[in-house]
Amino acid sequence: MTIGIVAHLFGCSLSHHLSLCLLFYLLCFLYLLSILYDGLAQQGPRHSPLILDAHALAGCVAFENGVAAGYSFYVLEDQKGLIGGLYVSAKFAQDSIGRRLLEEMLYSMRAIPHLARIEAQLMPFSGPVDKPLLDQGFHLYTRQFMLLDLQKVHEAKSGASAGLRLNRWNDRYFEPCAKLIYLAYANHVDGEINDQYRSRSGALKFLKNIILLPGCGQFVPTASFVLHEPGSDELIAAVLTSEVSPGVGHTTQICVLPGYQGHGLGRMLMQTSAEALRSMKFRELTLTVTSDNYTAVQLYERLGFSTIKCFTAGVWPR
Ligand SMILES: CC(C)(COP(=O)(O)OP(=O)(O)OC[C@H]1O[C@@H](n2cnc3c(N)ncnc32)[C@H](O)[C@@H]1OP(=O)(O)O)[C@@H](O)C(=O)NCCC(=O)NCCS
Repeated sequence: MTIGIVAHLFGCSLSHHLSLCLLFYLLCFLYLLSILYDGLAQQGPRHSPLILDAHALAGCVAFENGVAAGYSFYVLEDQKGLIGGLYVSAKFAQDSIGRRLLEEMLYSMRAIPHLARIEAQLMPFSGPVDKPLLDQGFHLYTRQFMLLDLQKVHEAKSGASAGLRLNRWNDRYFEPCAKLIYLAYANHVDGEINDQYRSRSGALKFLKNIILLPGCGQFVPTASFVLHEPGSDELIAAVLTSEVSPGVGHTTQICVLPGYQGHGLGRMLMQTSAEALRSMKFRELTLTVTSDNYTAVQLYERLGFSTIKCFTAGVWPR
């Protein structure tokens, strides 16, 4: 197997195979924007050009015998690089091309002087990229993609709310929710995978990404809830939901303040959010969870979620 050219998407070394490149680039570019930044356009022209103007989106294209076989891309965010995707056409050797794309991409990312961390979550590529990621010094974590069929009736064990107030999401909860996330993920494996959970400012950025920018589908405020003490805006727990495709919801966040965990609040919030989605005629609810997070995995399994796919999350600290 030979890879003819691995070129940077927006860098850019377009010396060979220009016409094929341009067509493929265009398709990649539209695909990336539609998948990763779906909804940015709806936010007005303020956001989408920023990523491109800042040269924050970059990647590689693999060619075999002059035919585009796959691509990989990453996003730069301050001192962090996020590997957004790695795709190899089913007609080509997945392992060798996937490995080569990954190596080329990591090589160019590491050449960026201020880059201190790389995070990767490669959903379709669990097996083939594990070894190359390990070889490159990444720490790996297994994550599960889980799905709940909302049309099936599941035995509901109603959770207690212990005198707490249940409210729909409101934008005044941004700051309190960032604090809740920061506290709920202290010394948590997910804080190793996503460093945004390790500070209040990082958690706020995460929230803005999923709620305002649709970093993960379109936020559904009517299926997103918070729990707080009466008369206080400090949050005890929250569940946030987005629509990732028509009729399919995705839990982007569920967390309970440490002192309140294990009392049925997480279960109650998940059930409340699933019920809200059912009433809006959603068919499915999905989520991703780190396998080492046994409490959460157990909660989801008891609620009727099943694991559709396991995939690898990798972190490389410089
Ligand atoms: C995961 C989390 C949201 C669960 O919320 P919770 O309120 O603690 O969970 P619940 O009390 O509703 O428990 C529901 C189920 O979880 C399991 N569970 C909860 N606490 C547990 C514990 N301490 N040990 C073992 N299992 C536990 C039980 O299986 C329980 O099922 P049951 O009701 O049939 O007994 C909460 O622990 C949390 O915020 N963790 C940190 C953030 C996080 O991991 N979020 C999920 C990311 S995918």
